[in-house]
Amino acid sequence: MRKDFTRYIVTFIIALFVVVTPLLTEASRPILIEGAMECETDVLIEKLQNPQEQRIGGWRFISGDYEGIPLVVSVTSVGMTNAAAATVLGIETYHPFAVINQGTAGGHDPALHRFDIVLGAETIDLSAWVSKRESNGADGRHIKLRPTYYDENGTEKRVIELKADSELLKAAVDEGRNYQAGKVVIGKISSSNNWNRQIDMIRFYNEKYGSSCEEMEAHAAAHICKNYKVPFLGIRIISNTEIHNEDFDPAAGTSCQQYVLEVVKSYAKNKGIRTDA
Ligand code: 5AD
Repeated sequence: MRKDFTRYIVTFIIALFVVVTPLLTEASRPILIEGAMECETDVLIEKLQNPQEQRIGGWRFISGDYEGIPLVVSVTSVGMTNAAAATVLGIETYHPFAVINQGTAGGHDPALHRFDIVLGAETIDLSAWVSKRESNGADGRHIKLRPTYYDENGTEKRVIELKADSELLKAAVDEGRNYQAGKVVIGKISSSNNWNRQIDMIRFYNEKYGSSCEEMEAHAAAHICKNYKVPFLGIRIISNTEIHNEDFDPAAGTSCQQYVLEVVKSYAKNKGIRTDA
């Protein structure tokens, strides 16, 4: 009888260990925050406690704690290829719970000014397009966007827009109420390796494709996260807009990082993500 009871207790403890341990490990996985430039990553790095730096290939990662939350800051450098490579390396090395790609952007939506923030409910690839056959000259507005190809359980899927993770987006929307430097809107982030200053094209992307802003990394990172099934959100602050003749201001990068840290706090709380989990 006593033997049976002991066996029962031992089995119970082992079962508890088997069930609970992966949950705890899951909750201590870090959030990976990406930024391309120094003005988009310096505050994040400075806020880390016990920072540990690692270079993989040409890409820099700094891991540490922020108010008891495990974070990895990835300095991706500029452009789609860098963002994709850094995201693969970040996921493979740190197994993040979620990825946020953040930083500066140029305004496409006329309602947006410098220091306004776009939460990318969707991202699109503005470099993926097919034109009409034109023998003389070219009008950039005669283009149609081409899809992004990704894998879903062995099947090739094609989409024009990649959608953000709904829980990350909700945390960011909720935190938007506390942001003072401008407004926070839900929108669409357009990525390519281009810096477009043509107002006709800016209007076209906004009117035809609903683009809120343009930058050079978010869609590439979203694409990699889609393939790995890792929750993703792009957060971009307007640092320049041709529509209103507002030139690039690197201080926008600082405001974006401060806002992102608040989003991370509220998301980590919702999901129970803690260093000591
Ligand atoms: N167009 C393209 N990229 C921009 N960036 C900021 N504003 C723009 C813009 N109008 C960001 C990109 C890249 C860096 C050059 O600045 O994401 O990382």
